[in-house]
Amino acid sequence: MDMLVVRGGHPLRGTVTVGGAKNAALPIMAAALVAEGTTVLHGVPELVDVTTLSHVLRSLGASAERRADGALEIRVVDQQPCLADYELVRRMRASVCVLGPLLGRRHRACVSLPGGCNIGHRPIDLHLKGLRALGAEITIERGYVFARADRLVGADVYLGGSFGSTVTGTCNVLSAAVLAEGTTTISAAACEPEVVDLGNMLIAMGARIEGLGTPLLRIDGVEALNAVEHTVIPDRIEAATLMVAAAMTRGELTIENVRPAHLAAVTDVLRVAGTRVEFHGSTAHVRMTGAPRPVDVTALPYPGVPTDVQAQLTALLALADGISVVTDKVFPDRFMHIPELMRLGASIRREGASAIINGTPRMSGACVMASDLRASAALLLAALASDGESVIRRVYHLDRGYERLERKLNSVGADIRRVPDDPDNMPQSLQLSVDEQSVPTMDSSDTPPPPKFLRHAENKEATVRR
Ligand code: EPU
Repeated sequence: MDMLVVRGGHPLRGTVTVGGAKNAALPIMAAALVAEGTTVLHGVPELVDVTTLSHVLRSLGASAERRADGALEIRVVDQQPCLADYELVRRMRASVCVLGPLLGRRHRACVSLPGGCNIGHRPIDLHLKGLRALGAEITIERGYVFARADRLVGADVYLGGSFGSTVTGTCNVLSAAVLAEGTTTISAAACEPEVVDLGNMLIAMGARIEGLGTPLLRIDGVEALNAVEHTVIPDRIEAATLMVAAAMTRGELTIENVRPAHLAAVTDVLRVAGTRVEFHGSTAHVRMTGAPRPVDVTALPYPGVPTDVQAQLTALLALADGISVVTDKVFPDRFMHIPELMRLGASIRREGASAIINGTPRMSGACVMASDLRASAALLLAALASDGESVIRRVYHLDRGYERLERKLNSVGADIRRVPDDPDNMPQSLQLSVDEQSVPTMDSSDTPPPPKFLRHAENKEATVRR
């Protein structure tokens, strides 16, 4: 296992290029299962999650190989397998994206039910509701979703839930409906650009879909779909992460390969916080000088601020000149980064789905633990903006979703080293000296009164005893 050793305090300056979107690439790779012929995908990032899904596709009778030019070629050679087993789905819950394509093309699917997740409760009831509406019989047995449908028939499907729509659920229902008989409407469909990208590829394959990017999709089923060549959209979450990195380190970055429209909400937050953001075509220029101004931010489904940037913005606002409130309405429990940011000196209190952040002028390096993909990114940015050295452990979370992020950041002035997670690699600066380890002794006469909450607890105890 690796860890990152980060020496903070360097403003980032220079030019970086954003890669293809992980969350578009995954459902698009899964959708290659519905095509006749070889699907060629450009811009699929080299990530652990992509490798995991390639294994899933191979286990389902498809070849998935990188060409010399970096394109990913997917070709179905055996239509029989239908099992996405626990070992693969356990590694990456987005493996559930094969459910819709399998059902649409092979009329049956057996996919391990994804389990718990560090960012909160993530059921797939809406996926199943949508597929059932198209006529699939679905049971859950021995931890697997068993789905079958001799024929799928178009229907009216509503995909809204308590936290908005579902991104991968919309992808699943869409990928099945394109091969169903008749017309399907999906209302409360997810409007995320990643769903639009999948829809555009399906249209190029011969699917008939209207309303992409809106909450109402209309799909007229067709008999067969042909493989195409497709370029995945740029990763708006990577772009946003780099924009926040520029702002947090008070640097100046030119970020290439972005879609400004996909970044509208994050851009607005950054501008309110005092960051200068300008777009020229597909290039963003981001510059920040002083401390960020406090901002209240709510993560919402697209076109709102993405939940996948909530942790990074929380890290930024930890350095703001005042109090900010960050609320996550998509994943209300996605706050595992808070205690780790506090180890760096941030002052944050969690209240339900909100983080109340009392900005501090500086943070200082510490050893912190990544809990999920975007939390790792937030900790990395916070470490870059902290004084001294930090260590980020469990960095495999970062590798699931960012392509060579530390190399990109180093190319614009960051000082990040990837080393094996070993006590010998812990920087000296994070090891306390013998002097620092000794707890100061006090005379009993010097003993300060206990903090208020302790006194209250003591009184309570006393009352109970009486
Ligand atoms: N939900 C349900 N029932 C369902 C599905 C979802 O109640 O059947 C709830 C979820 O619990 C959550 C909300 O609806 O509260 C939104 O979940 P959604 O289904 O949209 O999430 P997802 O499709 O599982 C994708 C991304 C996530 C991203 C979310 C929200 C992929 C592979 N994953 O997940 O990305 O946070 O949409 O935008 O596309 C990440 O990249 O770090 C990541 C977690």
